[in-house]
Amino acid sequence: MDRIRIVGGQRLNGTIPISGAKNAALPLMIASLLTEDTLILDNVPRLVDVVQLQRILGNHGVDITIAGKRPGDDPNSGRTLHISAKTIVDTTAPYELVSKMRASFWVVAPLVARMGEAKVSMPGGCAIGTRPVDLLIMALERLGAEIEIEGGYVIARAKNGLRGGEINFPKVTVGGTHTALMGAALAHGTTVIENAAREPEIGDVADCLNKMGAKISGAGTSRIVVDGVARLHGARHAVLPDRIETGTYAMAAAMAGGDVLLQNARPELLQAALDVLVRAGATVTPTNEGIRIARNGAGLEPVEVTTAPFPGFPTDLQAQLMALMTRAKGTSHITETIFENRFMHVQELARLGAHIHLDGETATIEGVERLKGAPVMATDLRASVSLVIAALAAEGETMVNRVYHLDRGFERLEDKLARCGAAIERISS
Ligand code: EPZ
Repeated sequence: MDRIRIVGGQRLNGTIPISGAKNAALPLMIASLLTEDTLILDNVPRLVDVVQLQRILGNHGVDITIAGKRPGDDPNSGRTLHISAKTIVDTTAPYELVSKMRASFWVVAPLVARMGEAKVSMPGGCAIGTRPVDLLIMALERLGAEIEIEGGYVIARAKNGLRGGEINFPKVTVGGTHTALMGAALAHGTTVIENAAREPEIGDVADCLNKMGAKISGAGTSRIVVDGVARLHGARHAVLPDRIETGTYAMAAAMAGGDVLLQNARPELLQAALDVLVRAGATVTPTNEGIRIARNGAGLEPVEVTTAPFPGFPTDLQAQLMALMTRAKGTSHITETIFENRFMHVQELARLGAHIHLDGETATIEGVERLKGAPVMATDLRASVSLVIAALAAEGETMVNRVYHLDRGFERLEDKLARCGAAIERISS
């Protein structure tokens, strides 16, 4: 299993190209199931989760070809996928495939909307707490699907197609909103989604569905209205930049010091996180090319942060911020409100010398003068990258084990950081 070796203490200077968003690319690929025509997606990141989803879609009969790069193409831009779900050969998504990635459960909505039935294993995914699918099932039921749960599978049926309905989410859910959108796009009649997730990735999927002929308005607000259509057609869409990757490298630059341009990043996708970085003492400058993050020799200020659905501070940046605050000049508090068990990084950060105390959903972080390198490992994607951030400022060598978590969600991480001067290398084994 690969490992990443980091020797801390180098400042970061240079440019980091931001990839297409994992959490938009995955539902966009799944949306291809809604049409017989080809969906072309540009700027798809090269990630293990994308490859895994290609396998899952392949099992349903979806054909995916990856366009080669032409001379003159930007080497940093993502891949172009031509996805054709012309013939769906199987409406079952088996345990062996779905258990590896939670988002693959989302195939249930387009399959039942287009084929009238779907049998999808209950999901797996990162170890960040119990992650039920009750609200996704509720959304499908509101669209007229009959649901049975049997032997670890959710079986959804709508022999005469889905029909529009009122879906009022008691809690903001990204996956629930994607499910409602994809189901409603092909339903008979109008669907109103209340308390919808406002995450930018929802807007990106809605934009793509509209290019495919869907009639969706209000995406990006908490009330989305979908007028169902009889069929969707092919389209071409570029995946929006990854706001979590952007925030991660912004925190890395704030931790290590230096001056980094996050190329293609869009500030409006992560304003809450940028505001926190400014409070912590980083200089954040939006430019035509992206976002510049700089921090000179001055120390980091502690912050008080609570995670919340968009436009609040994202849970997917909580671990990275905690890593940053381990070196602040004082005590910070970070409260996690989205997932109840998303603190697996705490004990690993402690190995590097961090002082963190957990009390329920709040972590108290007492900044320390120095961190010291150590072997560490983590259990989820964002937790792993928080260890990389801490290691950039730790004295000596840190070895991050179980790198496959990083490869699920960060494209060429060691390469992007090394180009800015970090002493980081992958050790393959
Ligand atoms: C998406 O997960 C993201 N995944 C997660 O990113 C992200 O952390 C999360 O949204 C929150 O922003 C993808 O986009 C692929 P939710 P999702 O449904 O959709 C509860 C990463 O690191 N809930 O918004 O699964 C749930 O337990 C990943 O890239 C129910 O109670 O999250 C949680 O407390 C990790 N019942 C809250 O809602 C349900 O049926 C929000 O979850 C569904 C969710």
